[in-house]
Amino acid sequence: MTKAVVLSDYGPPEVLVPGEVEIGPPGPGQIRVNIEFAGVGPTDLAIRSGHLKGAFGNRPGSVLGFEAAGVVDAVGPSVSDVRPGDPVAVFLPELGGYAGQVLARYWVRVPQSVGAQDAAALPASGEAAARVVDETGVAAGETVLIVGAAGSVGLIAGQLAVARGARVLAAVRPGDFDLVTEVGATPVAYGPALAEHVRAVVPSVDAVIDASGAGVLGAAVELAGGTDRVVTLSDPHAADFAVRLSGPDGPHITERLQAVMALLAAGRLTLRSQTVAPLVDAAQVHRDLESRTLRTKVLLSAQA
Ligand SMILES: NC(=O)c1ccc[n+]([C@@H]2O[C@H](COP(=O)([O-])OP(=O)(O)OC[C@H]3O[C@@H](n4cnc5c(N)ncnc54)[C@H](OP(=O)(O)O)[C@@H]3O)[C@@H](O)[C@H]2O)c1
Repeated sequence: MTKAVVLSDYGPPEVLVPGEVEIGPPGPGQIRVNIEFAGVGPTDLAIRSGHLKGAFGNRPGSVLGFEAAGVVDAVGPSVSDVRPGDPVAVFLPELGGYAGQVLARYWVRVPQSVGAQDAAALPASGEAAARVVDETGVAAGETVLIVGAAGSVGLIAGQLAVARGARVLAAVRPGDFDLVTEVGATPVAYGPALAEHVRAVVPSVDAVIDASGAGVLGAAVELAGGTDRVVTLSDPHAADFAVRLSGPDGPHITERLQAVMALLAAGRLTLRSQTVAPLVDAAQVHRDLESRTLRTKVLLSAQA
């Protein structure tokens, strides 16, 4: 048995209850990881509250958490690239990160220059950011608008697009203008006048990445002159706008994890600022994120 924070039901943060779960031996293509830190993301809050009931195979009694970092404890048959004792970051499409141990199918080794906190903060956001930059086909010389560009995913996507030679317009709150400027983007204020703010800088954009899910798809399609190169990570009305709602893309997950980890190790990726909390405080963390009193990435420490 390993310690965990269990989703006892769907509902308010109180449904997250400290407990224990059984983690079996790793099967073919799996590793078992002793977790140091687990990342908390907005999708966790949506699942817990019941908005995404069952969407990720989760159910009451299961454990949330799309990402974690720690040390390999055991490897399953056919796994040869890591061995017990190796530091890894894991992406968990089937969840399970809010625990002391987890079985993972997708991992990347953590280079010495990357700390365990950063390693745990990277997998879900980094995979998503690399994916949407690929899906929108961002290329050198183009202009891409990223909405929610100071968030965990948006901040990485912006840097990947800048690295491709694109001009990035970063839609963020004024308090985050300096942050996105430092990573090479041009800030514009988000909000109801988003399209107007963008047009004050450029007449149109080549692509839009919506990493906010904040109801911006009408403006996005207008600014991009169509839906082909507009993608959202979370807008529930994507289909109404004929816009792609991006989701994990199995065959490319590992290569994307490796690409973003390499950039992080090389000191070429700035991540959203972080707060660390003990694993058992997961309910309070959800409460603080929901009330917006906390506006950072949160890492749950399984060792605390
Ligand atoms: N489909 C997938 O595979 C996938 C994967 C990962 C994440 N996601 C989803 O993608 C979204 C972003 O994730 P994340 O981890 O980056 O979340 P995050 O760190 O909380 O960032 C969300 C960003 O959206 C911004 N935002 C809030 N209201 C806005 C508005 N009205 N207009 C423009 N921006 C606004 C926030 O800015 P403020 O801080 O100023 O409020 C914040 O910077 C979430 O909805 C998450 O569930 C989907």
